Amino acid sequence: MKITIFGTGYVGLVTGTCLADVGHDVMCVDVDSDKIARLKAGEIPIYEPGLESMVKHNVATGRLRFTTDAKEAVSFGVLQFIAVGTPPDEDGSADLKYVLAVADTIGEYMQEDKVVVDKSTVPVGTADKVKEAVGKRLASRGVKLGVEVCSNPEFLKEGAAIEDFTHGARIIVGTDSDRVKRLMRECYAPYIRLQEKLMFMDVRAAELTKYAANAMLATKISFMNEIANLAERLGADVEQVRRGIGSDPRIGYHFIYPGCGYGGSCFPKDVQALERTARDVSYDAELLAAVESVNNRQKQTLFTKLANAFDGGLKGRTIALWGLSFKPNTDDMRDAPSRTLMEALWEAGASVQAYDPEAMKECRRLYGERDDLVLAGDRVQAVKGADALVICTEWKEFRSLDFAWLKGQLSMPVIVDGRNLYDPESVREAGLMYYAVGRGDSLIA
Ligand code: UDX
Repeated sequence: MKITIFGTGYVGLVTGTCLADVGHDVMCVDVDSDKIARLKAGEIPIYEPGLESMVKHNVATGRLRFTTDAKEAVSFGVLQFIAVGTPPDEDGSADLKYVLAVADTIGEYMQEDKVVVDKSTVPVGTADKVKEAVGKRLASRGVKLGVEVCSNPEFLKEGAAIEDFTHGARIIVGTDSDRVKRLMRECYAPYIRLQEKLMFMDVRAAELTKYAANAMLATKISFMNEIANLAERLGADVEQVRRGIGSDPRIGYHFIYPGCGYGGSCFPKDVQALERTARDVSYDAELLAAVESVNNRQKQTLFTKLANAFDGGLKGRTIALWGLSFKPNTDDMRDAPSRTLMEALWEAGASVQAYDPEAMKECRRLYGERDDLVLAGDRVQAVKGADALVICTEWKEFRSLDFAWLKGQLSMPVIVDGRNLYDPESVREAGLMYYAVGRGDSLIA
């Protein structure tokens, strides 16, 4: 099957590559000619385990191609996937300019009937807008061609995107057209184990499903962070509470880890966009607003704990920071708690010695060269000469730590752990003060 994918960002690239890998002929198109040139050479712009070799293999077989030629791309695929960005605009709603620009392009160049597949996370009602935009362009060309638009939201997690694409919990397709159902079934047919998980529904339900899923997951995290903050004040250990509630299958163990707040490209943006959508239909989505504000507050807690440990005197201090990405196995720092912390530390006159297994380049790109930021070669270098250690991301390599050694490195024996990685007793036995999230005496008032 011939498939065109607009946008070679995270979603577009993973989708295109995975579809080529199961035998489809895929053409990925992007307006960024540098990016396309690099992709043609097998160089991928993001860090995602397994993706680079898969891109190289499928480019070599000829099933995966990259182009900047939109005309060629539109004539190529029966299915035209839109996987471009939907960044939040000033009021938090998803900005559709890139999505609608692709719709325009499709309308401009199509010479036969097409099926447009919305893969980008777009507000409810976008499929109608895309159809209208294509239709308008067709009308201005004076041609009569058929276009159908369906919604096929992605549920990829960074760091596990290929696994999620190939073995996901479901494939959602929003359409009421039998032709579209047939084509989408054919598109996903190679994923035999996913076949039974192909769910057809109407377009608006599919669009809302994506937001509802992310908002529900974000809610679980903010809920647990709220319980953690309470646990701190009540002298209880939230890790025990987590295991206690997770044992009820109605609650489950997944996604109830308290921490220093959720980040990334999806949860913050999607919760805000859904709140905005609610406002547009005059509904006050109180729970969503609370999920967001609890998260914003949670991202401040590491700084508060540090400031309290140093009695507010952070000026001139050097803080070692482990983990910059918003979660492990990615170099993505969008909305990462590490950024809230670093920016607050700089504001307070402290400097940061940071280490992350993958996100160092990204950190440099975001913040440039500055005197109060040292990017250390490894985690050991990061603590050399530092006053205290803070952990923002639960990378595997941080999980084991020689506490006695660490005590010898820090001028103040303080670990602030935003991910509850260690056993509090062992840390304290080594003579360190341990401030984690929601663990009894983690609160420093
Ligand atoms: C998420 C969704 O999981 C995915 O289905 C959707 O398509 C895109 O958004 P992603 O943003 O890649 O994926 O990361 P995810 O692993 O879900 O983590 C999101 C954030 O929540 C991270 O900052 C993580 O640290 C935090 N988190 C997650 C917690 O704080 N506690 C948890 O229990 C789980």
